[in-house]
Amino acid sequence: MTSFTVAIDGPAAAGKGTLSRAVAERFGFAHLDTGLLYRAVGAKGGDPVRAAQTLSAADLGRGDLRSAGAGEAASKVAAIPEVRAALVRFQQDFARQPGGAVLDGRDIGTVICPDAEVKLYVTASDEVRAHRRWLELRAQGDVITEAQVLDDLRARDARDTARATAPLRPAADAVLIDTTELSIDTAVEKACEAIKRRMGQG
Ligand code: DC
Repeated sequence: MTSFTVAIDGPAAAGKGTLSRAVAERFGFAHLDTGLLYRAVGAKGGDPVRAAQTLSAADLGRGDLRSAGAGEAASKVAAIPEVRAALVRFQQDFARQPGGAVLDGRDIGTVICPDAEVKLYVTASDEVRAHRRWLELRAQGDVITEAQVLDDLRARDARDTARATAPLRPAADAVLIDTTELSIDTAVEKACEAIKRRMGQG
C-alpha cells in the first residue's frame, strides 16, 4: 500500500486524541500525537530550540506530559519558529510510512502534511472541551477547578491561534467535525466515512 495520511487538527480537548486512536485502529494506520512532541520539549527544560533538536524517544516516555502544566509549557515553546522547524522532518517521515498514518495536532493539514489524503478539523464549544479536560485531569489526580481549566484552555487556544508560525486554523479542504453534541462513536463514524470516501476515489 502506498502512503495514506489522515491529518486531524483542532483546539485543545476537542476529542482529537480519542478520534485519532479509534481511526488508526479501524484502518490499521500508525498514529502520532504531535502535541506530545511539544509537551516533551516544554518539559525538558533548558533551551527549547536545543531540546527540540535533540528530542529522543526517552523524552516522549516521561510520565508527567499529560498534566495541565505540561500543556501550558508546550503551547509556549510551540510558538517558537525554530522549535517547530526542528520537529517537521520527524512528523513528515512518520506521515509517509507505507501502512498509512494518522497525525493529530494544530498544523498538520495546513503545514506538516498539506497534501494529506484526508483532513479533519475537530472542534467543540469551550465549555464542553473544558468539562472533558477537567474530567481527564481529575482522573489522573490533578487538583484543579473546572473554571481554571476553562481559563487555561481559552488562554492556550488564543496563543495557538494568534502565533505567527503555523497557527491553529482549519485547512481550506478540511472536513469539520463539531463534537459538542456528538457521542464519540458518532464522531468516529463521521471520520471513518470521510476516509472511506477518499479511499474509494483513490
Ligand atoms: O494537543 P496537545 O494539547 O497535547 O498540544 C499541546 C500544545 O502543543 C498545544 O497547546 C499547542 C502545541 N501544538 C502545536 O503547536 N502544534 C501541534 N501540531 C501540536 C501541538
